[in-house]
Amino acid sequence: MSKKATVITYGCQMNVNESAKIKKIFENMGYDITENIEESDLIFLNTCTVREGAATQIYGKLGEIKPIKAKRGTIVGVTGCFAQEQGVKLAKKFPLIDIVMGNQNIGGIPNAVEKIVSGETKHVIATDNEDELPARIDADFESTKMASLPIMYGCNNFCTYCIVPYVRGRERSVPMEQLLDEIKVYVQKGYKEIMLLGQNVNSYGKEFKNGDNFAKLLDEICKLEGDFLVRFTSPHPRDFTDDVIEVIAKNPKIARAIHMPLQSGNTKVLKDMNRGYTKEDYIALAEKVKKIVPDAFLTTDIIVGFPGETEEEFLDTLDVVRKVRFGTAYMFMYSQREGTKAATMEGQIEDSVKKDRLHRLMDLQNSISKEISESYEGNEERVLVEGPSRKNKNVLSGRTSSGKLVLFEGDESLVGEFVNIKVTDCKTWTLFGEIIK
Ligand code: SAH
Ligand code: SF4
Ligand code: F3S
Repeated sequence: MSKKATVITYGCQMNVNESAKIKKIFENMGYDITENIEESDLIFLNTCTVREGAATQIYGKLGEIKPIKAKRGTIVGVTGCFAQEQGVKLAKKFPLIDIVMGNQNIGGIPNAVEKIVSGETKHVIATDNEDELPARIDADFESTKMASLPIMYGCNNFCTYCIVPYVRGRERSVPMEQLLDEIKVYVQKGYKEIMLLGQNVNSYGKEFKNGDNFAKLLDEICKLEGDFLVRFTSPHPRDFTDDVIEVIAKNPKIARAIHMPLQSGNTKVLKDMNRGYTKEDYIALAEKVKKIVPDAFLTTDIIVGFPGETEEEFLDTLDVVRKVRFGTAYMFMYSQREGTKAATMEGQIEDSVKKDRLHRLMDLQNSISKEISESYEGNEERVLVEGPSRKNKNVLSGRTSSGKLVLFEGDESLVGEFVNIKVTDCKTWTLFGEIIK
């Protein structure tokens, strides 16, 4: 019987992409991929450390794995950002871990697994910070129609709350020719949606001497032949230049969901966060995007309870949310990350206050999301069919260019195709519709 391997993913799209690569690595090593950890001979956790909750989830999963390892001798590896951050500390805390392989070192996984299998060593710990372009590793994506690819790695921004620059290293971009070649192959293979990834995608190419930048990359991708949609995440508002907005406006191949992480709506808090823009800058940018790309669906990330945030400052965040009217927002309570500047700032906010602010923000945002969703009624939308819906196999699900989930009746053979849908009913998070012949 062949050996089985499981990869469990936490965190952002970059981790999802890297997990796809790790699965491919395991397949190349002769493992079959399974989601059932009970039958697994090799389990890797691809971890996140952006907020405290991420770490807690990982501890819980290790607890679940312990009896499985005791029974079958499963090899346990931890990779990703939490592994990168914790290094050897993690293996000391959890002796069941055989391999700690930081996010900068996933190429070293096969070697590490072989060392453990052959009994050459008891533990392998590798969390070097390369600050170089990692080797491009092949990936198999869960969906046969949606591919993602990193265009840049790392982050130089050092927002004061954020641990990512410490675990992902400095910014480095993949040469444009290489990206265009890779995307061409994906499109030829039939992928209909290409997601460009980076911690700060619109600083793509800053280190290049040949003038290649994010706007040019988007433009060149759109010139590639074929019917496909390009998404990207995450841009930084400070680097959201006019040429990028214009490229989006003129290219229907670029998705209308535009993510612009706000973090806070108050200028003083933004300064303390080291975000590089003011409340007014942000509102002006959002207005410009909406004017030049009228069908833009803005999404955002917001943190409440940053150290020192007063009630009045928090109200500024609500004010921006009201003015900009985001389609959706990912909303978080500030989480103290050791080693970041904000972790030692004065004025850390009580959990009860953070919770209260989060609830008020969510109430406001949910009502806006609902209104925006309802405005889709009667629209005709081009939708990429992703698969049968989870709850009802006779119903298909897909997403609009703006990222809204749509459910409609149709034949499974349409999966991976674009269809035109007339929207007949709208709930906050889901649209319902029918295929227009
Ligand atoms: N590079 C991306 C994503 C960073 S992490 C970007 O800049 O947009 C994703 C989101 O997690 C951030 O946008 C931020 O809203 C949130 N986040 C990061 N650090 C956090 C912290 N310490 N506490 C709470 N939320 C945090
Ligand atoms: Fe973190 Fe800021 Fe970099 Fe995003 S831009 S990864 S929030 S430091
Ligand atoms: Fe988490 Fe690392 Fe992504 S900390 S959010 S997995 S970059």
